[in-house]
Amino acid sequence: MSTPEIATAPAPTRVAHHRRYLMCRPEHFTVEYKINPWMEPATPTDTAKAVEQWQKLHDLYLELGHEVELIEPLAGYPDMVYTANGGFVIGGRAYVPEFYYEQRRGESPAFAEWFRANGFDTVLPKEVNEGEGDFLLAGDVILAGTGFRSAGDSHREVHEVFDREVVTLTLVDPRFYHLDTALTVLDPVQGVENGGPERANVAYLPNAFDEASRKILAERFPDAILVADEDGAVFGLNSASDGYNVIISPRATGFEKQLRERGYNPIMVDLSELLLGGGGIKCCTLELRGA
Ligand code: ARG
Repeated sequence: MSTPEIATAPAPTRVAHHRRYLMCRPEHFTVEYKINPWMEPATPTDTAKAVEQWQKLHDLYLELGHEVELIEPLAGYPDMVYTANGGFVIGGRAYVPEFYYEQRRGESPAFAEWFRANGFDTVLPKEVNEGEGDFLLAGDVILAGTGFRSAGDSHREVHEVFDREVVTLTLVDPRFYHLDTALTVLDPVQGVENGGPERANVAYLPNAFDEASRKILAERFPDAILVADEDGAVFGLNSASDGYNVIISPRATGFEKQLRERGYNPIMVDLSELLLGGGGIKCCTLELRGA
């Protein structure tokens, strides 16, 4: 008698895609004001340690074969390291942010200038929006967060700028105030025309969203990885994927396992110092999607 086979579906083969990112060395990083629940101005920060941790992420992207562009850090703007908030870029067009909090507003002209100088079709915003912190491209669809930072009107504006479907998702937990703290796009291939899926798969933290948004996510992404609260709470979802390698926080051990089971290659990078400002891996990474 032969032993019955246990049916386990093999994990699909994943392919890494080339990425071009914009980063900013945290030379002026510190926490001197509080605009999210993670920031405690009374807790000392170590700028040298922030730079060292950031450098590891930067170097890892290069080792993985990606391209990294740098924007000059501005003194007096300690949050500029979180370049995900510096814009939202698709097809060589850059939609510039309009920050919710006064403390970051001076970053916008610097990002706009960088985009212009680097040949991007640069669109200035009318509405409050915090760039790729709240807008994530999943296949051909723009997932747009609101509730804390980017205003609902920016969702209409981002639709006008890129002429793509925009899906509004409402965040409800102040710890997860940007969409990129609660949801990761796992297969960031741009558009069906490039051989990508119409809707790329995602991982998300269900409890960060209101009920209506959870319903939308469940319908649109039936195969999504649902991440546990304890992994979300260590910023596990603030990660960057190239379709195979997914850079995540070393504390998100459950998410790491889920990724492996699905055939992804999680790589751990510790940005504990930058977490004192309420940002992680994805926050420090802005994707520059070319024309
Ligand atoms: N201290 C920054 C802020 O509150 C952190 C931004 C994090 N960025 C992000 N994409 N989630 O604005």
